[in-house]
Amino acid sequence: MRSETDGRCVAGFAIESGGFDTEALQSRLAGRRMGWRIHYLPVVDSTNRLALQLAREGAAEGTVVFADCQTRGRGRLKRIWQSPPGRNVYASILLRPDIDPADATRITLTAGVAVAEMISIFCPEGVGLKWPNDVFIRERKVCGILTEMKTKGKALDALVVGIGLNVNIAGRDFDPEYRQSATSLREETGRIFPREDVALRLCDSFEKWYRIFLDEGFVAIRERWLSHSRMLGRRVRVLFQGEVQEGLVVGIDLDGALLLDDERGVVRRIIAGDASIMKG
Ligand code: BTN
Repeated sequence: MRSETDGRCVAGFAIESGGFDTEALQSRLAGRRMGWRIHYLPVVDSTNRLALQLAREGAAEGTVVFADCQTRGRGRLKRIWQSPPGRNVYASILLRPDIDPADATRITLTAGVAVAEMISIFCPEGVGLKWPNDVFIRERKVCGILTEMKTKGKALDALVVGIGLNVNIAGRDFDPEYRQSATSLREETGRIFPREDVALRLCDSFEKWYRIFLDEGFVAIRERWLSHSRMLGRRVRVLFQGEVQEGLVVGIDLDGALLLDDERGVVRRIIAGDASIMKG
Protein backbone atom coordinates (compact mmCIF):
# COMPACT_ATOMS: atom_id res chain seq x y z
CA MET A 1 0.00 0.00 0.00
CA ARG A 2 1.21 3.48 -0.79
CA SER A 3 0.21 6.91 0.31
CA GLU A 4 1.55 10.21 -0.87
CA THR A 5 1.76 13.73 0.48
CA ASP A 6 2.64 16.57 -1.88
CA GLY A 7 4.17 14.08 -4.28
CA ARG A 8 6.40 12.54 -1.58
CA CYS A 9 5.83 9.06 -0.27
CA VAL A 10 5.58 8.88 3.50
CA ALA A 11 6.01 6.49 6.41
CA GLY A 12 6.86 2.80 6.46
CA PHE A 13 9.41 0.74 4.58
CA ALA A 14 7.35 -0.21 1.51
CA ILE A 15 6.13 3.34 1.15
CA GLU A 16 9.51 4.86 1.81
CA SER A 17 11.09 2.68 -0.83
CA GLY A 18 8.64 3.61 -3.61
CA GLY A 19 6.84 1.08 -5.77
CA PHE A 20 8.02 -0.95 -8.74
CA ASP A 21 4.88 -1.58 -10.71
CA THR A 22 6.13 -3.90 -13.43
CA GLU A 23 2.78 -4.26 -15.19
CA ALA A 24 2.59 -0.50 -15.60
CA LEU A 25 6.20 -0.48 -16.76
CA GLN A 26 5.60 -3.24 -19.31
CA SER A 27 2.59 -1.46 -20.79
CA ARG A 28 4.40 1.89 -20.88
CA LEU A 29 7.33 0.28 -22.68
CA ALA A 30 5.17 -1.43 -25.33
CA GLY A 31 6.38 -0.58 -28.83
CA ARG A 32 9.74 0.74 -27.63
CA ARG A 33 12.98 -0.62 -29.09
CA MET A 34 14.53 -0.86 -25.60
CA GLY A 35 12.33 -2.69 -23.12
CA TRP A 36 9.78 -4.07 -25.60
CA ARG A 37 10.33 -7.32 -23.67
CA ILE A 38 11.10 -7.16 -19.96
CA HIS A 39 11.89 -9.78 -17.35
CA TYR A 40 11.35 -8.77 -13.76
CA LEU A 41 12.70 -10.80 -10.84
CA PRO A 42 12.01 -9.99 -7.19
CA VAL A 43 15.38 -11.61 -6.43
CA VAL A 44 18.18 -12.71 -8.74
CA ASP A 45 21.89 -13.24 -8.29
CA SER A 46 22.75 -10.80 -11.08
CA THR A 47 20.62 -9.28 -13.83
CA ASN A 48 23.72 -9.29 -16.07
CA ARG A 49 24.20 -13.01 -15.56
CA LEU A 50 20.56 -13.68 -16.40
CA ALA A 51 20.61 -11.37 -19.44
CA LEU A 52 23.69 -13.21 -20.79
CA GLN A 53 21.86 -16.51 -20.28
CA LEU A 54 18.85 -15.13 -22.19
CA ALA A 55 21.24 -14.01 -24.94
CA ARG A 56 22.57 -17.58 -25.22
CA GLU A 57 18.97 -18.78 -25.49
CA GLY A 58 18.39 -16.40 -28.41
CA ALA A 59 16.67 -13.41 -26.77
CA ALA A 60 16.45 -10.39 -29.05
CA GLU A 61 17.94 -6.91 -28.82
CA GLY A 62 16.02 -4.61 -26.50
CA THR A 63 15.20 -7.31 -23.95
CA VAL A 64 15.70 -5.82 -20.49
CA VAL A 65 16.09 -7.66 -17.19
CA PHE A 66 15.10 -5.78 -14.03
CA ALA A 67 15.33 -7.01 -10.46
CA ASP A 68 14.14 -5.65 -7.15
CA CYS A 69 17.21 -7.08 -5.46
CA GLN A 70 20.44 -8.88 -6.43
CA THR A 71 22.30 -11.31 -4.21
CA ARG A 72 25.53 -11.10 -6.22
CA GLY A 73 25.25 -7.90 -8.21
CA ARG A 74 28.38 -7.70 -10.35
CA GLY A 75 30.55 -4.61 -10.25
CA ARG A 76 33.69 -3.83 -12.19
CA LEU A 77 36.95 -5.53 -11.30
CA LYS A 78 35.05 -8.39 -9.65
CA ARG A 79 33.54 -6.14 -6.98
CA ILE A 80 30.06 -6.76 -5.59
CA TRP A 81 27.41 -4.15 -6.37
CA GLN A 82 25.34 -3.44 -3.27
CA SER A 83 21.78 -4.30 -4.35
CA PRO A 84 19.23 -4.12 -1.51
CA PRO A 85 15.51 -4.62 -2.23
CA GLY A 86 12.86 -1.93 -2.53
CA ARG A 87 15.11 1.00 -3.31
CA ASN A 88 17.10 1.11 -6.52
CA VAL A 89 17.04 0.20 -10.19
CA TYR A 90 19.10 -2.78 -11.37
CA ALA A 91 18.77 -3.24 -15.10
CA SER A 92 20.54 -5.22 -17.83
CA ILE A 93 19.88 -4.26 -21.43
CA LEU A 94 20.56 -6.87 -24.11
CA LEU A 95 21.97 -5.57 -27.40
CA ARG A 96 23.10 -7.20 -30.62
CA PRO A 97 24.95 -4.39 -32.41
CA ASP A 98 26.96 -5.09 -35.52
CA ILE A 99 30.26 -3.93 -34.04
CA ASP A 100 33.65 -5.38 -33.24
CA PRO A 101 34.09 -6.74 -29.67
CA ALA A 102 36.94 -4.23 -29.26
CA ASP A 103 34.41 -1.40 -29.68
CA ALA A 104 32.28 -2.37 -26.71
CA THR A 105 33.70 0.49 -24.60
CA ARG A 106 31.88 2.88 -26.91
CA ILE A 107 28.59 1.36 -25.81
CA THR A 108 29.52 1.68 -22.13
CA LEU A 109 30.24 5.37 -22.72
CA THR A 110 26.96 5.71 -24.64
CA ALA A 111 25.15 4.25 -21.64
CA GLY A 112 26.94 6.74 -19.37
CA VAL A 113 25.67 9.63 -21.50
CA ALA A 114 22.14 8.18 -21.44
CA VAL A 115 22.15 7.92 -17.63
CA ALA A 116 23.73 11.35 -17.12
CA GLU A 117 21.18 12.99 -19.42
CA MET A 118 18.31 11.21 -17.70
CA ILE A 119 19.30 12.08 -14.15
CA SER A 120 20.11 15.67 -15.11
CA ILE A 121 16.33 16.11 -15.41
CA PHE A 122 16.05 15.50 -11.66
CA CYS A 123 19.37 17.06 -10.66
CA PRO A 124 20.12 19.86 -13.12
CA GLU A 125 23.39 20.69 -11.31
CA GLY A 126 26.36 18.51 -10.61
CA VAL A 127 25.88 15.40 -12.75
CA GLY A 128 29.18 14.18 -14.14
CA LEU A 129 30.83 11.21 -15.83
CA LYS A 130 34.02 9.50 -14.82
CA TRP A 131 35.73 7.25 -17.35
CA PRO A 132 34.88 4.61 -18.13
CA ASN A 133 31.63 3.84 -16.42
CA ASP A 134 30.70 5.93 -13.38
CA VAL A 135 28.02 8.56 -13.04
CA PHE A 136 28.47 11.04 -10.24
CA ILE A 137 26.41 13.75 -8.63
CA ARG A 138 28.86 16.27 -7.23
CA GLU A 139 31.59 14.17 -5.62
CA ARG A 140 29.61 10.96 -5.12
CA LYS A 141 28.85 7.98 -7.31
CA VAL A 142 25.15 7.49 -8.10
CA CYS A 143 25.38 4.87 -10.85
CA GLY A 144 27.74 2.18 -12.11
CA ILE A 145 27.68 0.53 -15.52
CA LEU A 146 29.08 -2.90 -16.33
CA THR A 147 29.12 -4.08 -19.94
CA GLU A 148 29.62 -7.78 -20.55
CA MET A 149 29.66 -9.60 -23.86
CA LYS A 150 29.13 -12.91 -25.56
CA THR A 151 31.18 -13.64 -28.65
CA LYS A 152 30.79 -16.17 -31.47
CA GLY A 153 34.27 -16.92 -32.73
CA LYS A 154 35.85 -13.48 -33.15
CA ALA A 155 32.51 -11.72 -33.68
CA LEU A 156 30.31 -10.03 -31.13
CA ASP A 157 27.11 -11.98 -30.61
CA ALA A 158 25.52 -10.04 -27.76
CA LEU A 159 26.30 -7.25 -25.33
CA VAL A 160 24.71 -6.77 -21.95
CA VAL A 161 24.79 -3.28 -20.49
CA GLY A 162 24.20 -3.55 -16.75
CA ILE A 163 23.13 -0.39 -14.97
CA GLY A 164 22.92 -0.03 -11.21
CA LEU A 165 21.28 3.27 -10.29
CA ASN A 166 20.91 4.33 -6.67
CA VAL A 167 17.42 5.78 -6.55
CA ASN A 168 15.73 5.75 -3.13
CA ILE A 169 18.45 4.31 -0.91
CA ALA A 170 19.20 6.52 2.09
CA GLY A 171 22.80 7.49 2.82
CA ARG A 172 22.79 5.58 6.11
CA ASP A 173 21.90 2.34 4.26
CA PHE A 174 25.03 2.21 2.12
CA ASP A 175 27.67 -0.25 3.27
CA PRO A 176 30.04 1.64 5.58
CA GLU A 177 32.89 1.52 3.05
CA TYR A 178 30.75 3.41 0.49
CA ARG A 179 28.99 5.87 2.82
CA GLN A 180 31.33 8.75 1.98
CA SER A 181 31.59 8.04 -1.73
CA ALA A 182 28.09 6.98 -2.82
CA THR A 183 24.84 8.84 -3.21
CA SER A 184 21.31 8.35 -4.56
CA LEU A 185 18.70 10.45 -6.33
CA ARG A 186 16.87 10.63 -3.02
CA GLU A 187 19.90 11.92 -1.13
CA GLU A 188 20.48 14.60 -3.76
CA THR A 189 16.89 15.80 -4.19
CA GLY A 190 15.09 14.90 -0.96
CA ARG A 191 12.47 13.14 -3.09
CA ILE A 192 11.31 9.54 -3.34
CA PHE A 193 11.02 8.31 -6.92
CA PRO A 194 8.61 5.66 -8.22
CA ARG A 195 11.14 3.23 -9.63
CA GLU A 196 9.10 2.27 -12.69
CA ASP A 197 9.22 5.94 -13.76
CA VAL A 198 12.99 5.94 -13.40
CA ALA A 199 13.22 2.61 -15.23
CA LEU A 200 11.06 3.92 -18.07
CA ARG A 201 13.11 7.09 -18.43
CA LEU A 202 16.28 5.01 -18.36
CA CYS A 203 15.07 2.81 -21.25
CA ASP A 204 13.93 5.88 -23.21
CA SER A 205 17.18 7.72 -22.71
CA PHE A 206 19.25 4.66 -23.57
CA GLU A 207 17.17 4.10 -26.71
CA LYS A 208 17.75 7.71 -27.79
CA TRP A 209 21.52 7.65 -27.31
CA TYR A 210 21.98 4.14 -28.69
CA ARG A 211 20.16 5.25 -31.85
CA ILE A 212 22.46 8.27 -32.10
CA PHE A 213 25.44 5.94 -31.71
CA LEU A 214 24.18 3.65 -34.51
CA ASP A 215 23.10 6.48 -36.86
CA GLU A 216 25.82 9.09 -36.31
CA GLY A 217 28.65 7.07 -34.87
CA PHE A 218 30.66 7.52 -31.71
CA VAL A 219 31.75 11.08 -32.59
CA ALA A 220 28.39 12.44 -31.42
CA ILE A 221 28.53 10.42 -28.21
CA ARG A 222 32.10 11.47 -27.49
CA GLU A 223 31.17 15.13 -27.70
CA ARG A 224 28.31 14.73 -25.24
CA TRP A 225 30.37 12.48 -22.98
CA LEU A 226 33.11 15.11 -22.78
CA SER A 227 30.56 17.82 -21.99
CA HIS A 228 29.56 15.80 -18.90
CA SER A 229 33.09 14.73 -18.05
CA ARG A 230 34.48 15.49 -14.63
CA MET A 231 37.96 14.54 -15.75
CA LEU A 232 38.89 16.79 -18.65
CA GLY A 233 41.91 18.91 -17.70
CA ARG A 234 42.30 17.12 -14.34
CA ARG A 235 45.21 14.98 -13.18
CA VAL A 236 44.20 11.37 -12.74
CA ARG A 237 45.76 8.14 -11.63
CA VAL A 238 44.70 4.96 -13.43
CA LEU A 239 45.32 1.56 -11.91
CA PHE A 240 45.20 -1.49 -14.16
CA GLN A 241 46.54 -4.95 -13.37
CA GLY A 242 48.96 -3.61 -10.80
CA GLU A 243 50.30 -0.86 -13.06
CA VAL A 244 49.76 2.81 -12.29
CA GLN A 245 49.59 5.55 -14.93
CA GLU A 246 49.28 9.23 -14.08
CA GLY A 247 48.65 12.26 -16.25
CA LEU A 248 46.43 15.07 -17.35
CA VAL A 249 43.22 14.04 -19.11
CA VAL A 250 43.13 15.58 -22.58
CA GLY A 251 40.17 13.66 -23.98
CA ILE A 252 38.91 10.30 -25.13
CA ASP A 253 39.60 8.91 -28.60
CA LEU A 254 37.21 7.39 -31.09
CA ASP A 255 37.67 3.96 -29.53
CA GLY A 256 36.59 5.29 -26.15
CA ALA A 257 40.13 5.10 -24.73
CA LEU A 258 41.15 7.74 -22.18
CA LEU A 259 43.90 10.07 -23.42
CA LEU A 260 46.43 10.92 -20.74
CA ASP A 261 49.16 13.51 -21.23
CA ASP A 262 52.08 12.49 -19.05
CA GLU A 263 53.18 16.18 -18.95
CA ARG A 264 56.42 15.31 -20.72
CA GLY A 265 54.75 15.60 -24.09
CA VAL A 266 53.62 11.99 -24.46
CA VAL A 267 49.91 11.24 -24.77
CA ARG A 268 49.01 7.70 -23.76
CA ARG A 269 45.84 5.76 -24.63
CA ILE A 270 44.36 3.99 -21.63
CA ILE A 271 41.97 1.26 -22.63
CA ALA A 272 41.01 -0.10 -19.20
CA GLY A 273 41.49 0.57 -15.53
CA ASP A 274 40.24 2.18 -12.38
CA ALA A 275 40.65 5.95 -12.60
CA SER A 276 40.75 8.37 -9.69
CA ILE A 277 40.97 12.13 -9.90
CA MET A 278 43.97 13.47 -7.99
CA LYS A 279 43.45 16.29 -5.52
CA GLY A 280 45.18 19.62 -5.95
C1 BTN B 1 30.51 -0.70 -11.22
O1 BTN B 1 31.32 -1.41 -10.61
O2 BTN B 1 30.52 0.52 -11.10
C2 BTN B 1 29.49 -1.34 -12.13
C3 BTN B 1 28.25 -1.75 -11.37
C4 BTN B 1 27.17 -2.36 -12.24
C5 BTN B 1 26.01 -2.88 -11.42
C6 BTN B 1 24.85 -3.29 -12.26
S1 BTN B 1 23.39 -3.58 -11.30
C7 BTN B 1 22.59 -4.26 -12.70
C8 BTN B 1 23.63 -5.08 -13.44
N1 BTN B 1 23.68 -6.43 -12.92
C9 BTN B 1 24.84 -6.71 -12.35
O3 BTN B 1 25.13 -7.79 -11.82
N2 BTN B 1 25.64 -5.64 -12.41
C10 BTN B 1 25.02 -4.54 -13.11
